[in-house]
Amino acid sequence: MTEQNAKSNSMWGGRFSASPDAIMEEINASIDFDQVLYTQDIAGSIAHAKMLAAQEIISDDDATKIIDGLNTILREISEGEFKFSRALEDIHMNVEARLRELIGDSAGRLHTARSRNDQVALDFRLWVKERLTDMDGALTSLIAAFLDKAEANLETWMPGFTHLQTAQPVTFAHHSMAYVEMFARDRSRVRDCINRLDECPLGAAALAGTGFPIDRHMTAKTLGFENGPTRNSLDSVSDRDFVLEFMSVMSICGTHLSRLAEEIVIWSTPQFNFVKLSDKFSTGSSIMPQKRNPDAAELVRAKVGRMNGALVTLLTVMKGLPLAYSKDMQEDKEACFDAANSIALCLSAMQGMISDLKVNKEAMAKAAGSGYSTATDLADWLVRELNMPFRDAHHVTGATVALAEKKSVGLEALTLEDLQSIEPRITAEIFDYLSVEKSVQSRMSFGGTAPKQVEAQIKYWRKTQ
Ligand code: ARG
Repeated sequence: MTEQNAKSNSMWGGRFSASPDAIMEEINASIDFDQVLYTQDIAGSIAHAKMLAAQEIISDDDATKIIDGLNTILREISEGEFKFSRALEDIHMNVEARLRELIGDSAGRLHTARSRNDQVALDFRLWVKERLTDMDGALTSLIAAFLDKAEANLETWMPGFTHLQTAQPVTFAHHSMAYVEMFARDRSRVRDCINRLDECPLGAAALAGTGFPIDRHMTAKTLGFENGPTRNSLDSVSDRDFVLEFMSVMSICGTHLSRLAEEIVIWSTPQFNFVKLSDKFSTGSSIMPQKRNPDAAELVRAKVGRMNGALVTLLTVMKGLPLAYSKDMQEDKEACFDAANSIALCLSAMQGMISDLKVNKEAMAKAAGSGYSTATDLADWLVRELNMPFRDAHHVTGATVALAEKKSVGLEALTLEDLQSIEPRITAEIFDYLSVEKSVQSRMSFGGTAPKQVEAQIKYWRKTQ
């Protein structure tokens, strides 16, 4: 680092006579966290240099030197040889200062028709787009893990719950497919988000555009933006909707992961004993040798807190900011980086947990039949066969459950006389409807829990990747 480049003043200090106070540097510098944007920053600069040369704003010779220098810097940073300087504030000025060291004065031409305002908007968009693409892939793998589980458990009876009280029998396949729906909606939100952010802000310059004859369509194309350049230069540098949307997508997906994690925690207790997590995703207790703790699931359940925190952080930063750029917006990154690392980790951990999950079919089936889970089937039979109004049938069934409870047996273990003591028109045919299997098989309505219905949904999602 030369003397001249060691201070940020060398980059913008023409009208400053003193260096920044140490505390100013501390609050101002973003290089400690925005250095992760180096690949995007360098890609943006290379595209910009190529365009400047194509438009004859800089010479081909300068562009070649700039691009070679930038490629050297890319290698230096990737290999950990680059010395980042806080005095140079951020990734943009660190790269430019090093470029000057490497190629001399030509480096100063790179920033023609550009500002750090459009530069950072570009870098961050490119970074978010990559993370969203990763998230799309991770969600697809998680969905595939659930589809496999569902396929293997079409006839694994389990209790369906409302209020976490046994409600009606369902199958583990059906329950798994509920998560497929949730994660597929997340994936669709990810894709929407990519589509909306797929416009290039480079060339908006500081806020008003530029007098140089730049070609924004060219840079947008070089950088892989499907929807061309952004259409308003003020908005281009002041917009952080793409970060907010990404964070909302993460929070919603994190919420789904957290609900699933909670179910895994409950299901893996000895009391439920519905599933067993593999050793790979369990931990032991340092004091109680019998324990298997679902730590990974608990941490997934907790990490959504970071994602929600990140979203609220940036919503709060952005509210009330006048157009166009304000330095407040530098506070968009750390929270987003943290949330993005968290969601990537949670999605991978959950995919591992689901793939390795051992389902205890016997325990699930036993629980499916307890808690008078087929009471609704009895009521439905009374409506269908005896033409009873549903409210009356509900009443008769309630009395039947009370009798079973008194005799400490399940509904199917009551005698025909027991049943007829409550409603004399009941026939022996009713026993066909009180088993868990009959109950599940009968729920053939579209989206219902009958194996045929669930199989159709699995087919649908296998095709819709
Ligand atoms: N480090 C800054 C950020 O993250 C880059 C943009 C700086 N622009 C400026 N006008 N000071 O927002």
